[in-house]
Amino acid sequence: MKVLVIGSGAREHALCHSLSLDPDVTALHCAPGNAGIAEVAELHQVDALDGAAVVGLATGLGAELVVVGPEAPLVAGVADAVRAAGIPVFGPSGEAARIEGSKAFAKDVMAAAGVPTARSYVCTTAEEVDEALDAFGAPYVVKDDGLAAGKGVVVTSDLETARAHAAGCERVVIEEFLDGPEVSLFAVTDGESVVPLQPAQDFKRALDGDEGPNTGGMGAYSPLPWADPKLVDEVLQTVLQPTVDEMHRRGTPFSGLLYAGLAITSRGVRVIEFNARFGDPETQVVLARLKTPLGGVLMAAATGNLADLPPLRWSEDAAVTVVVASHNYPDTPRTGDPITGLDAVAAEDAPHAYVLHAGTRRDGGAVVSAGGRVLSVTATGQDLGEARERAYRAVGRIGLDGSQYRTDIAAKAAAEARA
Ligand code: AMP
Ligand code: GLY
Repeated sequence: MKVLVIGSGAREHALCHSLSLDPDVTALHCAPGNAGIAEVAELHQVDALDGAAVVGLATGLGAELVVVGPEAPLVAGVADAVRAAGIPVFGPSGEAARIEGSKAFAKDVMAAAGVPTARSYVCTTAEEVDEALDAFGAPYVVKDDGLAAGKGVVVTSDLETARAHAAGCERVVIEEFLDGPEVSLFAVTDGESVVPLQPAQDFKRALDGDEGPNTGGMGAYSPLPWADPKLVDEVLQTVLQPTVDEMHRRGTPFSGLLYAGLAITSRGVRVIEFNARFGDPETQVVLARLKTPLGGVLMAAATGNLADLPPLRWSEDAAVTVVVASHNYPDTPRTGDPITGLDAVAAEDAPHAYVLHAGTRRDGGAVVSAGGRVLSVTATGQDLGEARERAYRAVGRIGLDGSQYRTDIAAKAAAEARA
């Protein structure tokens, strides 16, 4: 099977890493990719938002499966173009990707499907915003309706901050505050059958102790030793399957990866958000534990054959990933800084620890930073403690001027699991 992956982050590196280990994948291409992906896939230049260009590339390569990683091309309808050209594609249509592209649309689908989520109002005027903020009280949750790379949400106890964020958006969703730990649960679906993956936890805030601004995600781990073993089944029954069924009923079936961002509240599981693609950095740890070859799973979803797929096999190991971000991330990240230590990790820490690249590119002989999140240093171990130690040992070998990372990824879960 010849596979083309679209995207250039650590999620796409994780996808390519797993696909490169699948014996049925005979050729692996990625566009536009990054310096790390270049080691496992052949890179091509493409405007990832241009469906015709992606189709042209896929056709030229003889790709038998196209995997669209990020949300922006999905929302732009790139998967539709590939599907229309007769090439199997892993990723939802533009219509179906609205479940991520519009928070208001997602709320509407959840209401119709009876999926538990925070109560909310969609507001377009300052008056509506004030009424909604007043109705729910602090802490305030204000979400830009459109795509914002995980950065469109403000959670604050300060009324003026909440109002200011709302004022900067055309349309906002204001909703009740959900407390309790967050879980990211992914499901692969062909539009009818739904196969959940293993749950992971993401660390959204920039700084240790969940301080600082929201980011795309600063680290993740899986499994979740503290979670109810019935969680995945419950979410499949109450969230994932009803949502996929509702999208099917609307005539806009969702096929690809449905990402449920959940809060485990004292009153039960609630959906915080849906995404239409693999999460980043959760994918790095979920795929680190998946033993079933990935290519066949994605192909089954792309061709409507998920019902025939044997149950997924998972490693008992734990996995942890730590994101190394640029100076000034998430505000105005500095790029172009040289990265050192990559060879040392490969020599000293493989195969248990490895570096997945996010924003990197080659500059002559050097690898330099090219984005906000630069690397996703990933490790496996017998338990979270061991995976954590290995990940941070590898992080310690990396040099990147001005870079930052959280030191507490999976710390609490590892300590609780050992106690
Ligand atoms: P989202 O982009 O909707 O996932 O929101 C980003 C982050 O904001 C989430 O991961 C949560 O940490 C936080 N958040 C979003 N909605 C809520 C809510 N209703 N209550 C509490 N925190 C929330
Ligand atoms: N890690 C959060 C996301 O992928 O949206």
